[in-house]
Amino acid sequence: MKKIAVLTSGGDSPGMNAAIRAVVRTGIFHNLEVFAVERGFAGLMEGQISPMNQVSTGGIMQRGGTVLKTSRSEKFKTKEGLDIALQKLRKFDIDGLVTIGGDGTLRGARDLSALGLKTIGIPATIDNDLPKTDMAIGVDTALNTVIDAIDKIKDTASSHQRAFVVEVMGRNSGYLALMSGIAGGVEVILVPEISYNLQEISLKLKEGYQRGKTHCIIVIAEGVGKTDEVSKYLEDKIGYETRITILGYLQRGGSPSAFDRILASRLGAAAVEHLLKGETSKMVGLIGNKVEATDLEVVLSQQKTIKQNLYDLSLVLAK
Ligand code: F6P
Repeated sequence: MKKIAVLTSGGDSPGMNAAIRAVVRTGIFHNLEVFAVERGFAGLMEGQISPMNQVSTGGIMQRGGTVLKTSRSEKFKTKEGLDIALQKLRKFDIDGLVTIGGDGTLRGARDLSALGLKTIGIPATIDNDLPKTDMAIGVDTALNTVIDAIDKIKDTASSHQRAFVVEVMGRNSGYLALMSGIAGGVEVILVPEISYNLQEISLKLKEGYQRGKTHCIIVIAEGVGKTDEVSKYLEDKIGYETRITILGYLQRGGSPSAFDRILASRLGAAAVEHLLKGETSKMVGLIGNKVEATDLEVVLSQQKTIKQNLYDLSLVLAK
């Protein structure tokens, strides 16, 4: 293997730049030529490929987003799209590709590998919904962003004696909601993986109200899809003046935390080392503080489940 490329695809997440930097610099350390693909798989099909070096990866580690830009492409999912992408890489004699992103990005890596290209995926998504890695790149930073917001909202909630429903990202995953709810010390956490009963929740909140609680915060994952309904229920049934805050895209941006920079550096380096060993269609992830590679078929056929023990802990602590 002499030439490899790196791309970011799907939703951006803080720490992607640190991963790009690690791929490029580890590649150069091992005497590889490293190329950047811009705008993910869409850019790949358009041949947006150019060489990278130590200089072009300088000063990017602390930046949020992705310097390579990103996209979601429907065309790439077709046989025609995959063939075009492969042709573009072959034109540059590139025989290895590192893809950084979430499940869609990993699927792309698996499909390109099936056509003969060596590929390794790096998990990067604030949803933390990928199995076979304890953490994806960006999750820690997003969590810190959410906690910062919850702390601030708490000030207003107690000053005005209000209830706040805070919606956090997570299309199908309650990870951000659960962890930020525990770390933010909120009263109620609602996630798509675990069913809830609004009547029980309102009874619990009423009790708190009677004990003299002046505010309450409910963190709800976007994937629950009931933010308005929950807010209205609380207002009508408990009489709390209720406000909704949807944190939205500010959770995806920002300078990556130390944890994310280090994770991205480790996974970026590991991805290149696995390519050099001739491996393909794998995802490098963090399992129990060790970097491990797992077959993409396994990663993509499983679902990450929410940790019931942490959910139980949140119920004990939220009073
Ligand atoms: O995959 C991360 C995520 O932030 C989800 O939680 C969210 O639903 C989705 O991306 C939205 O991304 P976009 O609007 O960029 O498609």
